[in-house]
Amino acid sequence: MQLSVLGCGYLGAVHAVCMAEMGHEVIGIDVDAEKIKLLANGEAPFYEPQFDDYLQRNLAAGRLRFTTDPAELAAAQVHFIAVGTPQISGDYAADMSYVEAAVATLAKHVTDHPDGPVIVAGKSTVPVGSAERLAAMLEGTPATLMWNPEFLREGFAVDDTMKPDRIVYGVSDDVSRQIMDDVYRPLLDAGVPRLVMNYPTAELVKVAANSFLATKISFINAMAELCEATGADVTQLAEAIGYDDRIGKRFLRAGIGFGGGCLPKDIRAFMARARELEVDNALVFLREVDAINLRRRERAVELATELCGGRLGDRRIAVLGAAFKPDSDDVRDSPALDIATRLQMAGADVCAYDPAAGNALRALRPEMQVADSVLDAVSGAHVVMLLTEWDEFKELSPADLAPRVAELNIVDGRNVLVPQQWREAGWRYRGMGRPLEDPDE
Ligand code: UDX
Repeated sequence: MQLSVLGCGYLGAVHAVCMAEMGHEVIGIDVDAEKIKLLANGEAPFYEPQFDDYLQRNLAAGRLRFTTDPAELAAAQVHFIAVGTPQISGDYAADMSYVEAAVATLAKHVTDHPDGPVIVAGKSTVPVGSAERLAAMLEGTPATLMWNPEFLREGFAVDDTMKPDRIVYGVSDDVSRQIMDDVYRPLLDAGVPRLVMNYPTAELVKVAANSFLATKISFINAMAELCEATGADVTQLAEAIGYDDRIGKRFLRAGIGFGGGCLPKDIRAFMARARELEVDNALVFLREVDAINLRRRERAVELATELCGGRLGDRRIAVLGAAFKPDSDDVRDSPALDIATRLQMAGADVCAYDPAAGNALRALRPEMQVADSVLDAVSGAHVVMLLTEWDEFKELSPADLAPRVAELNIVDGRNVLVPQQWREAGWRYRGMGRPLEDPDE
């Protein structure tokens, strides 16, 4: 089938290459000429495992093209909207201007298609109620709108698109459903569940899922606060409660909390929408979820300050990790970056290293020292802070770092190290929600 994808950021670019991989002819469109040039040359504008292979293979096969010219949309029968909905600066609400611009572009350029009815499928995460309004913008054109939320995780984006847990259609007619079944045929044949529902339910699935995940993380981080007050260990607590199938072990890793381009902004936009709908009470708990999450960042700064004897001025701190999670170069709302910035503002001499996000970090924090390796970052450090759980950091041993640092202090912001190993080697180890067992405590 002939498809277009509007918006070639994380979501759109991955969706475009995966649709091409399934055998469709795909045009990716974006207003950012630089990004389109990179993609057209087979270069990924972001770090994502498997993406480069898929991109290059499908460009070479002639199934995938990228352009900035919206007039080329007319060739496609199904159009996916995959533009961003970032948090509005100074507000909790989502910025819908990119989605509205994409729908306006479609309204101008879609034409009848020889293969049958034309569908616009919204994938962006939008406030509930948007689809109905956007559908009205397409009235009088040959296109029908459906909502088709995307659940991909960064770092697993290709796998999540090729093997999703479920496919959701928010749709009001049978013809659109059949056409989308043709688009997703290989996935449906492989047994992926497909759920059909109305617009608002489909829009809610995405924000409800992300709110649940954020709540799960903040729940265990709240337990970490309790553990810190009582000498309990949150990693053992999580393991023990996780054996109950109803609770499960996943998304119960306590640490410096969640970040990224989705979870934080989605829960805030959800609260803003609930207020507009006059059901804010239903989501008051999300305010706590957000607050617990942000308190963990303060806690990490507190731990570093304590290890420095109460003041950060002139202390050198090595920050390992800047991306909001491993296998990503994304620093949007990254807890690691936020903590590094707070330490620097408190007077510390911060040197950061991240295996993939170094360039993003240099662009965003030109005043921060960015090292090219772990060993460079930790040279002369009074405290080492592990803030993103890259494999490279999980495998570090106390003996690797000891000859380089000024003092043997480590904060494990992701609880991925074995405390005993570091303590036995003479380090003062601090985890998140883990007991203090140093002899001098
Ligand atoms: C998330 C959702 O998982 C995905 O379904 C949705 O489509 C987009 O948002 P993503 O932002 O890629 O995906 O990251 P995810 O793997 O969910 O992690 C989010 C954050 O939570 C990261 O900062 C991660 O470090 C943190 N996290 C995750 C924890 O702190 N503890 C955990 O147990 C799990």
